[in-house]
Amino acid sequence: MGKNIVLTGFMGTGKSSVGMKLAERLNREFVDMDREIEKLTGMTVSELFRRYGEVRFRSEENLMAKKLANHRNLVIATGGGVILDQSNIEVLRTNGFIICLTAHPEEIFQRVSRKKGTRPLLKKNLTVADIVAMLEERQAMYEDADFMMQTSGRSIDAVVDDIVSRLQQEPGVL
Ligand code: S3P
Repeated sequence: MGKNIVLTGFMGTGKSSVGMKLAERLNREFVDMDREIEKLTGMTVSELFRRYGEVRFRSEENLMAKKLANHRNLVIATGGGVILDQSNIEVLRTNGFIICLTAHPEEIFQRVSRKKGTRPLLKKNLTVADIVAMLEERQAMYEDADFMMQTSGRSIDAVVDDIVSRLQQEPGVL
């Protein structure tokens, strides 16, 4: 059994799409943390934020990180803010390998603009500058990963190929 493969990265960097394909390729189970939180609470992430606030969501996220860290061999797509609490990364790293997906702010803007309603931290009149500002705030936390992977202008398959070849060089992951 290998370590979990944990995908971090800002909203719209492709964690879920890449994670799903990567899991398929490696014949592993795929877990999307936000979807698991939604199943557990019976609310969408937006609903959780709206009714109980970000603090409650972060606490659910923290519990989910602990729960998933007890498993092996998973591909986990985290929510973009999981890195805000360093203890989440610490616990996920105990038996997981952390890969941070990155993308250019303009591309993130294009990607998240399609599904803004599902992301409570993004305001209606979001601009590329807002994304740049959030990225800057979070940059150091995203960099606390085993490696970073650029996704801008690349197909999901190309990103997955690259991740798999990097992982083949890492002992104990695959
Ligand atoms: C968040 C990212 C979202 C979701 C929540 C908060 C963030 O996940 O967890 O809206 O703080 O960056 P995605 O990265 O999958 O959009």
